[in-house]
Amino acid sequence: MTSMATTAPARAVAVEVEALEVDLVLEGIYRGYGLDFRNYARESVRRRLLRRAQGEGVASISALQERVLHDPRCMARLLADLSVNVTSMFRDPAFYQTFRARVVPQLATYPFIRIWSAGCSTGEEAYSIAIVMREAGLYERTRIYATDINGDVLEHARRGEFTIEKMKDYTANYIAAGGSRSFSEYYTAGSDTVRFDPTLADNMVFARHNLVSDRSFNEFNVILCRNVLIYFAPSLQDEVNRLLYESLAIFGVLGLGRRESLKSPGLERRYERLDPVERLFRRTT
Ligand SMILES: C[S@@+](CC[C@H](N)C(=O)[O-])C[C@H]1O[C@@H](n2cnc3c(N)ncnc32)[C@H](O)[C@@H]1O
Repeated sequence: MTSMATTAPARAVAVEVEALEVDLVLEGIYRGYGLDFRNYARESVRRRLLRRAQGEGVASISALQERVLHDPRCMARLLADLSVNVTSMFRDPAFYQTFRARVVPQLATYPFIRIWSAGCSTGEEAYSIAIVMREAGLYERTRIYATDINGDVLEHARRGEFTIEKMKDYTANYIAAGGSRSFSEYYTAGSDTVRFDPTLADNMVFARHNLVSDRSFNEFNVILCRNVLIYFAPSLQDEVNRLLYESLAIFGVLGLGRRESLKSPGLERRYERLDPVERLFRRTT
């Protein structure tokens, strides 16, 4: 009885202190490095901070803060944890099937097509859409802007190299996404990695862009921002959705991830939903 009565308040205090530590380290990262994670989904950030503290061999988030602020290499490791880079080629293949059927015919009427892969991670999404555009005979007039907050993943994307063991899944995704060629035509296999056809990157531009703090930098016919908003708190999702809306040309198409939405009803009214399941929206006003 006694121990329960004393441990419950102690636990509540520990939780409060940890919440304060999370606030402070995020504020420190923002002020020290200009990276703003303050409005990311809280619980996920907390878990990642604790995991990094453990990885660094320090006992608390405050101790991690001390290290992060004094050591940019520790910040780079934390950035890798916070930015969650998991991705794959033709992720959620049905999305690409719908894209081929409902979006490509519209794009075919344009003389020049600008596509933004926002939060592109290691580039699989950009290569997937490049393949779709090439198979539609539109790649020559397409430019793909692939951006991310994390410079290391962009470096990886620029190389166009992926591990060979992923190719089985990627081939299955490609076929399920409506691909009609042999997927191996698109890459050259080495012993551990494959290198994607470098001509697929001819019309790609890779650049750092932070969806939280940077502005719109062009007007796009398509924006893919998939599996990025889920890591943001609702208010930040709303802000980023506004940035995406402002970056779309009229009748431009926005593609979100399976578990993502437009959030505010004010924004939803400005789009037509292209498919009930796939999160593809066409800007109408
Ligand atoms: C889970 S991956 C999604 C990759 C790809 N879009 C997909 O659906 O497979 C999320 C990516 O968003 C990036 N990201 C997170 N916060 C960001 C921000 N504020 N600005 C730009 N990119 C961000 C991460 O670095 C990561 O590469």
